[in-house]
Amino acid sequence: MSNELVTTVDLDAELQKQSPQKILQYALEQYENLAISFSGAEDVVLVHMAHQINPDVQVFSLDTGRLHAETYRFIERVRKHYGIKIDVMAPDAEAVRQMVSEKGLFSFYEDTHHECCGIRKIEPLRRKLLEVDAWVTGQRKDQSPGTRAGIPVIQDDKVFARPGDRLVKFNPLANWSSQQVWDYIRALEVPYNELHDRGFISIGCEPCTRPVGPGQHEREGRWWWEEATKKECGLHAQNIES
Ligand code: ADX
Ligand code: SF4
Repeated sequence: MSNELVTTVDLDAELQKQSPQKILQYALEQYENLAISFSGAEDVVLVHMAHQINPDVQVFSLDTGRLHAETYRFIERVRKHYGIKIDVMAPDAEAVRQMVSEKGLFSFYEDTHHECCGIRKIEPLRRKLLEVDAWVTGQRKDQSPGTRAGIPVIQDDKVFARPGDRLVKFNPLANWSSQQVWDYIRALEVPYNELHDRGFISIGCEPCTRPVGPGQHEREGRWWWEEATKKECGLHAQNIES
């Protein structure tokens, strides 16, 4: 597939029909300076698939400072298992210090998660994305009916692109269900976060994530004190804007 004279929308229509492996292969062939955004949850399948195509694939994780101990252990396990470097991005210490000293350590329960996510996730992500031409996420359509049902497989990232420059975002798992992800993890013995064995499905920061019960949607375990349509922390703000 050539990307000459082809718009991202055309390409998306073509890639929507492809498997995640084929999409990743295309992404890695087209963009040498590409990084996978790895959250320490089930999107480890992306690391597994990409590592088979390019063992030196770039991987990064946003360490908000509020992840579960199990997630830190898992990130380390993945690093060793695949023998890869994981760029663990930390938030700006001064910004965290000011927020916490003014509002305490749990301000998100009172004034929404936006300020805290802005400091602990979005700013470090913005910094990281200045270094690359393309990034890959584990977003899926079935993760959030309210905000992710229409996500493309490839898109121009207008939120995090450098001014006057292009940044491409790939969501290779967009059309996979949670079941397909887990079938893959089990079949290939891909390492996974031990919290999944304790009722956690969608895993974010420890104070903002809880297990879900039978019949509950996975997203109900995230920022449960906020409305479903607002459950995007800003990493994927484009989902709401488009
Ligand atoms: S979030 O926006 O609500 O936090 P979610 O947990 O569903 O996102 O994860 C969707 C994708 O966003 C993940 O597959 C991963 O690519 C990226 N992501 C989320 N959290 C992180 C993180 N802490 N570090 C790196 N990438 C992340
Ligand atoms: Fe802060 Fe919660 Fe957002 Fe983590 S998920 S950055 S703790 S508001």
